[in-house]
Amino acid sequence: MSGSLSPTALARLLGQWHLGAAPAYRELADVVRLLILDGRIPLGTALPSERALSASLAFSRTTVTAAYASLRDQGFLSSGQGTRGRTCLPRTSAHETEAAAGAGLSGAPGLAIPDGVIDLAYASLPASGEVVHRAFAAALTELPVLLPGFGYDALGLPALREAIAGRYTAVGVPTTPEQILVTSGAQHALNIVLRAMAGRQDKVLVEHPTYPNALDAIRAAGYRMVPVALPPAPATGWDMDATEAALIQQRPKLAYMVPDFHNPTGRLMPDAQRRRLVRAAAASDTVVVADETLRELNLDGGTAAPLASFSPAVVSIGSLSKSHWAGLRTGWIRASESLIQRFTAARTSMDLGGPVVDQLAAAHLVRALDEPLPSRLDALRQNRAVLLDLLRTHLPQWKPERPDGGLAVWCRLPAPSSTALTVIAPEFGIRLAAGPRFGVGGVFENHLRVPFTLPPDKLETAVLALRSAQDRLDSSPQLRRTLKDSPAVAIA
Ligand SMILES: Cc1ncc(COP(=O)(O)O)c(C=O)c1O
Repeated sequence: MSGSLSPTALARLLGQWHLGAAPAYRELADVVRLLILDGRIPLGTALPSERALSASLAFSRTTVTAAYASLRDQGFLSSGQGTRGRTCLPRTSAHETEAAAGAGLSGAPGLAIPDGVIDLAYASLPASGEVVHRAFAAALTELPVLLPGFGYDALGLPALREAIAGRYTAVGVPTTPEQILVTSGAQHALNIVLRAMAGRQDKVLVEHPTYPNALDAIRAAGYRMVPVALPPAPATGWDMDATEAALIQQRPKLAYMVPDFHNPTGRLMPDAQRRRLVRAAAASDTVVVADETLRELNLDGGTAAPLASFSPAVVSIGSLSKSHWAGLRTGWIRASESLIQRFTAARTSMDLGGPVVDQLAAAHLVRALDEPLPSRLDALRQNRAVLLDLLRTHLPQWKPERPDGGLAVWCRLPAPSSTALTVIAPEFGIRLAAGPRFGVGGVFENHLRVPFTLPPDKLETAVLALRSAQDRLDSSPQLRRTLKDSPAVAIA
């Protein structure tokens, strides 16, 4: 159970929620629902009493009572007798709840998905089942040898560190096991780097747009963000002039980059730009953190050397989440030996190491990293083609960017309606992550990320639902205006 939200805190999150285009209670309920779905009001949070919220918003008690009743009817608010209602989600089957939690829902860990809803907020794949299962079977046979030990190893199992180092060496970045720290996924790795590298108020350069959970981690660590815009499609690549200028002028401590099939655009940074990036970062004394989580999802065979091959100062983050399965929760950091020691010291304030069996299995998976990829990439290529085709047919005004790799298509919308679409999406059986989640300060209201991780038949259902949601907005400009400027999306 989470805490409670004061009337002032909720009023701040709601901002200018009432624009008068629909009954006030509906506008209020819509924006609270978005805040819950986006994870910005955690599940289990007690909302303010009707009396206190109506005073704080300077709206009638009847409005707040009706909004709460509507949230209760939709399953977003519990109905305790005589107590303040707590935020929750519509009931689901146990199976779906587990699936949602395992996939690591962006911004709202463990959120359950209501029955029948297609979740387009995730960009994640099911496990490469047989390959993962076989690795765990082998791990169990190897486990007895390790049982007499303590089981703690903050750096990670030597066999796994060796396998990861071997993989880097094989792709042209000579690496020793001492340069590897095993983590519980890439998100954990980034948190370790953030904690170890700098203090509050230091600056971190980020691509704009970028991966929302990285933005959350950077924000939570107290860093100031220096966003550098990616040039909008049809331009490709990164804006290196702007990146160099930001590095020189702002001298950020870190630059968090996703050069390999960037999330959400799917772009691959060309070698020449990689060279410029590390040169400029060296001049501004900035450590580049390269998030390579999506590196294996190369759909068009584009080539670019790992960023660390251009400079020994680069800190690389990797993961098995996209190549094999997010449920493995296995990732790593590659850096100089001295930085790895610093990261390890920072790590032990969070946890004391990873699970041994999982690491034994991961060592098998890393040694044969490419094994599941051909079939995975074939399916993704087909899904990408199907999604782009469906979007062209059913939403011709949307401008999807064709990704070089990764799991999603970043679409430019004809109007700033991403939040409005996200708010009404559940009524059409889909769940979306609004464009502003991928940026700082509420921008990207005219963008939406659409994953192609679902099979073609589900993609078709999803795009038809998007079409219906878009039709509803088109036929009701008032509704779009009501939701468009919702400050719920403007929280940086
Ligand atoms: C760029 C990026 N970094 C990190 C992650 C999270 O990875 P992990 O599951 O290893 O924590 C993701 C997941 O989508 C991602 O896209």
